[in-house]
Amino acid sequence: MIRSVVEGCGAYLPERVVTNEELARKVDTSDEWIVQRTGIRTRHIAAEGEFTSHLATRAASRALERAGMAASAIDMIVLATSTPDQTFPATATAVQANLGLTRGAAFDVQAVCSGFVYGLAVADSMIRNGMAGTALVIGAETFSRILDWNDRSTCVLFGDGAGAVVLRAGHGQGTPDDRGILASTLHSDGRQHDLLYVDGGPSTTRTAGYLRMQGREVFKHAVTNLAAVVGETLNKAGLKPEAIDWLVPHQANKRIIDGTGRKLGLSSDKVVLTVDRHANTSAASIPLALDAAVADGRIRRGHVVLLEAMGGGLTWGANLIRW
Ligand code: ACO
Repeated sequence: MIRSVVEGCGAYLPERVVTNEELARKVDTSDEWIVQRTGIRTRHIAAEGEFTSHLATRAASRALERAGMAASAIDMIVLATSTPDQTFPATATAVQANLGLTRGAAFDVQAVCSGFVYGLAVADSMIRNGMAGTALVIGAETFSRILDWNDRSTCVLFGDGAGAVVLRAGHGQGTPDDRGILASTLHSDGRQHDLLYVDGGPSTTRTAGYLRMQGREVFKHAVTNLAAVVGETLNKAGLKPEAIDWLVPHQANKRIIDGTGRKLGLSSDKVVLTVDRHANTSAASIPLALDAAVADGRIRRGHVVLLEAMGGGLTWGANLIRW
């Protein structure tokens, strides 16, 4: 059977680093409050004129380099983002042009913080159906542009960045020993729309609007939904939690991540954590964390890697990969 094998990953963070202390000079907050409640210490913020497509292109170029592949070998670009350059066309088409690609397909996927998990699942299905032999899956965001910088309950939580992986069709035996994406699960529940949304858009207010969130409610759903979707995904692949070498969770909040790790019985040294340095970069957070753990040699060929995320919608999901 066909399996979508990860050939390489890459990431990009804007140069400017903003500390909790710097935010505490603008809104009524403190480093202590932010670290205690979220684990976040710093975040990167895009420069003026630096757009989601720019971050995405840099991450994609690095992923291609690591995969040893030319951009011209890519059949499909799937870009997960909730902060596109424009309402349309898809930011993926800007990345396609930046990479000098003139063939194949490019489109965006919008599932907020679950976007990368959704994007991987979509690309994997298309590779397994024979629609594409290779794919770039990117998560890229400039959440700094949709934050209300006077709202201390949200502006301290997010950052900008991008990460990408290159997938290529490979062959497996249909067992958990195959390299590639072993299983994915996607869920959403639109009744929970009001817990996390942006209060604007082209069809309603014409302008982009600002992020609004009921943090405590989102927190409760995250812990329950993530534990369930992880179990569901492991079952599909016929694996037990003990088989996981690395948990690479969406980096929203250290307390949510610790909770999921505990439910899986994983020791904290098997959980990749970047939320302290990156804050919540929405769809970019998982590929940014993946890139960090691959670059420093933690994630290696043959390892079982579990990705999970929850975000606005609500949406949530997981992918299980043998690296
Ligand atoms: N600094 C200081 N005080 C603050 C701040 C801040 N930045 N933000 C809120 N507070 C205050 C509130 O005003 C409130 O004060 P009050 O008691 O006088 O009214 C108090 O702190 C407690 O506020 P809560 O919102 O109840 O605090 P909580 O312990 O729930 O922590 C947090 C808030 C960190 C947002 C938490 O709920 C959370 O992490 N939720 C998950 C949200 C999330 O990660 N969303 C990301 C997208 S979804 C996802 O990726 C999973």
